[in-house]
Amino acid sequence: MINRILTPRELLIGGGSLAQLVPLLGRLGVRRPMLVVDPTIFRLGLADTAIGAMREAGLGLGVFSAVVEDPTDTSVIAAADEIRSGSHDGVIGFGGGSAIDTAKAAAILASTGEDVHALKVPRIVDLQVMPLVAIPTTAGTGSEVTRACVVSDTAAQEKMLILGTAALPAAAIVDYELTLSCPFRVTVDTGLDALTHALEALINRNGNAHAEALALSALRLIGANLETVAREPSNRAAREAIMLGATHAGLAVSNTSTALIHGLSRPIGAFFHVPHGLSNAMLLPLVTEYSLSAAPAGYAAAARALGWAPATMGDEEAGHALVRGFRDLNARLEVPTPKAYGVDEETYFRLRPEMARQALASGTPRNNPRIPFEDEIVRLYEIAWDGGAIGG
Ligand SMILES: [Fe+2]
Repeated sequence: MINRILTPRELLIGGGSLAQLVPLLGRLGVRRPMLVVDPTIFRLGLADTAIGAMREAGLGLGVFSAVVEDPTDTSVIAAADEIRSGSHDGVIGFGGGSAIDTAKAAAILASTGEDVHALKVPRIVDLQVMPLVAIPTTAGTGSEVTRACVVSDTAAQEKMLILGTAALPAAAIVDYELTLSCPFRVTVDTGLDALTHALEALINRNGNAHAEALALSALRLIGANLETVAREPSNRAAREAIMLGATHAGLAVSNTSTALIHGLSRPIGAFFHVPHGLSNAMLLPLVTEYSLSAAPAGYAAAARALGWAPATMGDEEAGHALVRGFRDLNARLEVPTPKAYGVDEETYFRLRPEMARQALASGTPRNNPRIPFEDEIVRLYEIAWDGGAIGG
């Protein structure tokens, strides 16, 4: 059995590491970087010091700040055009998952001349691209270390998953100080996304020992610190721990794959614009309950790592503690159901078959320990509507 493990060439992890950007670009041979930055982050001035340092170093810097939430085909094409017309030789993605995914997709388009719609799974995009440096300002998506990005197909209303080494950053700067001003809802939603990455890596049919170690580390760090960063946003030790946890979760999921939660979550995001981490969290207790019997040891290990089951507790009982733990955590962190979020009921129920079709087409439900039929997915969407459970 051979495991193919992919990571960025260089990771700078720690408070203040952003100050190392210019020498890092030098090591990557980048002279004309294009900064792809989230507009809110740009307005708040979080990138100002880095921009000043790059200009002072005489680099041919370009700035693209027209990043949109849930990046679209049209927005990444616009970013790629600017990279090409400015003869840029490297890209920096600065912000949350949307900014980093825009930078990834734009770097691929600018480097290869490919059509973005031709890149989606099941194709694996192992192409040579210009160096990309990812600088996350949230602790959650893990996009800074993954070989994946998600771009919405505007016409088809579908989130396209792009997978391959072309989407893997050459380097990442993981500086928790950039997350200190992150608001409650974004902190919680991205943290729950990271938790979902770690869980799905751990119970995945493509699991391996490397990813398992990182997933367990992530679950320990997230379990011990997520509620602290939610309630005490300026707690530096907790922010640092959750940032490391999110990066470990990203490495774990990138070297396995996502599973049923992400598979069901993407259509909810595509049709109803529910933030990604939030739609994952809406599904966490239900999909875990559905899958429990197919991987009792994995789910029990997750419950122990999160601190919700003692080491002496048997696997079956620990699995049930995990489902209860997710329900309680969602309540404490104010995660709404689709109904409470304000999703239109008639549209949601009408689109169940199409959402199930898109979920299966993404391929990720097949990585789940229990693989659902299409009618079971439709049923899961029905139960998830108002936060129900299979067991009533
Ligand atoms: Fe995710």
